[in-house]
Amino acid sequence: MARAARTLAAGGLVAFPTETVYGLGADATNPAAVARLYKAKGRPSFNPLIAHVDCLEAARAIGELGPDAIALAWAFWPGPLTLVVPRAPHCSVAELATAGLDTVALRVPSHPVAMALLQAFGKPVVAPSANLSGHVSPTTAAHVKSDLDGLIDLIIDDGAVEVGVESTIVGCFKEPMLLRPGGLPRAEIERVLGRKLVEPPAEAESATAQPLAPGMLATHYAPRTKVRLNAFRVEPGEALLAFGPATVIGANAATAVMNLSAKGDLAEAAAHLFGYLRALDARAPKAIAVMPIPSEGLGEAINDRLRRAAVGRD
Ligand code: TXA
Ligand code: MG
Repeated sequence: MARAARTLAAGGLVAFPTETVYGLGADATNPAAVARLYKAKGRPSFNPLIAHVDCLEAARAIGELGPDAIALAWAFWPGPLTLVVPRAPHCSVAELATAGLDTVALRVPSHPVAMALLQAFGKPVVAPSANLSGHVSPTTAAHVKSDLDGLIDLIIDDGAVEVGVESTIVGCFKEPMLLRPGGLPRAEIERVLGRKLVEPPAEAESATAQPLAPGMLATHYAPRTKVRLNAFRVEPGEALLAFGPATVIGANAATAVMNLSAKGDLAEAAAHLFGYLRALDARAPKAIAVMPIPSEGLGEAINDRLRRAAVGRD
C-alpha cells in the first residue's frame, strides 16, 4: 500500500480493485499524471473521470453537495454510487480530469483495498475502469494485465470484484438525473430521494455530443464479437450467454455456453457479466447470443451494458 501511494505521488498509474470493477488510479491533482492516464487507456480527453475520495468531508472539499447529494452520500457511501455535482471554488482536481466541465464526479468506494489506498495517499484519485478504451471493464487483475500490461506502473491484485458493473451515476442537478445505471439499483436511490430520477436528454447518447455522462458513448462496452440480444435460439457457430435455469433451442450446438446465473440471480449475473463477455469474445464465435434478462434491480445496468456491447455490430 505504501508503494502504491508513493507511485501515485510520483505521478504514476496504479490499478486497484473497487467493489464495482478494477480502476486505474492517478493523482487527481496532477495534470501530467492525468494526461498519462488518458494516454494509457487510449481514452478521449473530453470524457471526464471520477474522483475517488475516502469520505464525505473529502468530497465536500472538491464538489458542492446540495441536499439531494448529501442525502444520497449518507445513504450509500461508501458504495457503488457516483455523484456529479458543481466543482467547488477551490477544487483541487485537475481541469483535464473533468474535461473542462464545471461539474465533478465523486465517489467513495467501499472496497477495503481502494479505501486503504485512498487513505494512504491522502488526496483524491481519479480512476476510470482499468481497461483499454472501448473494451469491457475489468473484474479481475488478469483482465487489467491483458489490457494494460507495460502501460501502467502497478496492479494491486485482490481477486475478483464483488459487484461486477460500474457505479450508478446520478447528476445532482435541479432534478436528480440517472446518468448511468450501475451497481446501485435505481429504486434504492429513488426511495431515498422520495422522487423519481429524471432521464438524460436523448442527444446525450449521440457519439458526437459533449458527454453529459459517457459510459453513454454508444459503443463504450463493446467486445470484438457481434452481440445478439434477447435470443430465444442459438444459430450455428454462435456462443451462448445464458441466464436462468431454462434452455433455448440450439443450445447444445453452441460453440460455448456460459450461464450468468443458473438460478436467475441478478447480483450473481452482474458479477459474472464482463468476465464471461471477455471469455466468449476470446473464443471468436460467429456471434454471442444473449438470453433475455429481466430489467428490474441490477438488471437495468446489465441490460444497459449489453445494449452498448451490441451497438453497431451487425
Ligand atoms: O464503478 C466505477 O464507477 C468505476 C470504478 C473504478 O470506480 N469507474 C468508472 O469510471 O466506471 P469510467 O471512467 O469508466 O466511467 C466514468 C463515467 C464516464 O462515463 C464519464 O463520462 C462520467 O463518469 N463522468 C465523469 N465526470 C462527469 C461529469 N462531470 N459529468 C458527467 N459525467 C461524468
Ligand atoms: Mg469505463
